Amino acid sequence: MLVAGNWKMFKGPEEADAFCRSLREAELPADVDVVVCPPYVSLPSAVQVLAGTEVGVFAQNCHWDAEGAFTGEISAPMLLELGVYGTIVGHSERRQLFGDTDETVARRACAALDAGLHVIACVGETEAERDAGETEAVLRRQVSVLEHDDNLVVAYEPVWAIGTGRTATPEMAQEAHEIVKSVLDVPLLYGGSVKPDNARELLAQPAVDGALVGGASLDLSSFEAICRAGSLS
Ligand code: PGA
Repeated sequence: MLVAGNWKMFKGPEEADAFCRSLREAELPADVDVVVCPPYVSLPSAVQVLAGTEVGVFAQNCHWDAEGAFTGEISAPMLLELGVYGTIVGHSERRQLFGDTDETVARRACAALDAGLHVIACVGETEAERDAGETEAVLRRQVSVLEHDDNLVVAYEPVWAIGTGRTATPEMAQEAHEIVKSVLDVPLLYGGSVKPDNARELLAQPAVDGALVGGASLDLSSFEAICRAGSLS
């Protein structure tokens, strides 16, 4: 079971430092792998404060080249130099707002894994795609560009459930996860408005191996509650 907190563009270095200090003192369940994904500028604080703990620090994105003329991008070797453990790639906000495609997501995932980072690769259909009955085709397309790797985890995040307070039902999550797993057999997180009050039911689904949490990961008590919900489920 893995619970990852995607902070998005929240918590600068000072706030990250304070949050991670509290997280270090929190009683996290031993059977849940806990990860935080701060913005780039807060990675050094998080890595430093969480050093020697079981909490992993991931970036939110990673370029496929080691270096080059790519203004605004960050590479896997740079993240490794900081002591970062892994990275998210292909989050729907990167796909929708910043031009990531299945191809660039695959390149990012592949380069990060080759460099030695762990990867959470995100997939998920939009509301229009679900309404048009295209969920399965979209998931198959998005997942088929990824290659199996022991350090790869996929996150199913229906776009209509992200930051909206609308969550997939546990049955919908299970169904989508079965589709993803039929293409690529890797651990699979559910993401999209995971909160303390719905986490247990979602995480209890047999094909759900964890959660990628956005908004509710910014508050320590709700993040802890979601980690606890993952325990023994
Ligand atoms: P949310 O975000 O939990 O705020 O819906 C999830 C995500 O985007 O990873």
